[in-house]
Amino acid sequence: MIIYNIGLLVGIVPEGVLRKEGKEQGKTGILENAWLRIEDGRIADFGSGSLKGDIDACGGMLIPGFCDSHTHIVYAGSRDSEFLDKINGLSYEEIAARGGGILNSADLLNRTSEDELLRQSMVRVKEMMGKGTVAMEIKSGYGLNPDAEMKMLRVIRRIRETVPAAVKSTFLGAHAIGRGYSHKAYVDAVIGMIPEAAKWADFIDVFCDEGFFTVEDTDRILTAAKGLLTPKIHANELAVSGGVQVGVRHGALSVDHLERTTDAEIEALKGSATMPTMLPGSSFFLGLPYGRAKDFIKAGLGVALASDYNPGSSPSGDMRFVMAQGCIKMRLTPIEAFNAVTLNSAYAMGISKDYGSITPGKKAALILTEPGWDLTRMAYQYQTPCIRKVIQ
Ligand code: NIG
Ligand code: FE
Repeated sequence: MIIYNIGLLVGIVPEGVLRKEGKEQGKTGILENAWLRIEDGRIADFGSGSLKGDIDACGGMLIPGFCDSHTHIVYAGSRDSEFLDKINGLSYEEIAARGGGILNSADLLNRTSEDELLRQSMVRVKEMMGKGTVAMEIKSGYGLNPDAEMKMLRVIRRIRETVPAAVKSTFLGAHAIGRGYSHKAYVDAVIGMIPEAAKWADFIDVFCDEGFFTVEDTDRILTAAKGLLTPKIHANELAVSGGVQVGVRHGALSVDHLERTTDAEIEALKGSATMPTMLPGSSFFLGLPYGRAKDFIKAGLGVALASDYNPGSSPSGDMRFVMAQGCIKMRLTPIEAFNAVTLNSAYAMGISKDYGSITPGKKAALILTEPGWDLTRMAYQYQTPCIRKVIQ
């Protein structure tokens, strides 16, 4: 199958480049007036010129689809009951301390059947795919006991088996202390869940932050998961938590959030295989500082951006809005933001061999826009519909 009459083919990256760091984050290959050939669902080749084919792109832009490396879209009900409290000035921590927040979602999820949970979650998966997301990571973490955590991991597996998008699964038992457990007993329980979770999940995550799990808890949990599940850590959302350092020490694939970071975190990440991942949607929704993406890039690191789609801190899976916030609030150039939501976020899920750029051999998971669009306009005029077709 050939897509022809492509106004701009954006995101061309040579084979073997699995992430973009430092100055490279601001660069990508672009061809004008191009065609692209797909064979067996993969990109076969591409070039410039007026070759005719099967799909007329009508002068639109063709880019790799969005890769969303951090979501919590398997949840039950919603947290709209907390929205007024939030508007009236209660912080995320205060809502959690009143038994709301993650525990509120856990209560709802424990009362919801597996089929119903799948049904509710699929609505969000389809919403994300409609907005151009072709690969997503989904976390557990609203079960907070062995049965309900495994229920979540089974639902994630069922989503993976039903949709064309790539789905990666993360065991986030250590998201909050489950009801009825002491802190220590719950950390022990999470460690006890690891062998079963490893049959279902690809990754393990810990909410290493003030009021949730300590560096010591995180270290114990990651030590127990060694060789079974690769870490991806929630770190530095509410405080400078030490989560980045413990994540890097355990070879985390990514450390995520990073709303609060000092130069020590940047130093710790240098030379590591860990992708710093920022979630501007939660900065927006919770009124937190935006991550220092520009400083990370200046230090020679790469940065990924993801949606964090969840009911408490980021009720949106719109990766174009994420990209726009990367530009507007974090001062990334459109190309830096684009690499952050494609190649680098694919890296943060361990799938950048197959996703995240226009490269022969990679999956043909692509976004075709209306005529006249480019990356700058996509981020600048961020709410005008521009996606004509998601190819997957
Ligand atoms: O990434 N910070 C921890 N976990 C989620 C929020 C989960 C929730 O509030 O339901 C986050 O922001
Ligand atoms: Fe999160």
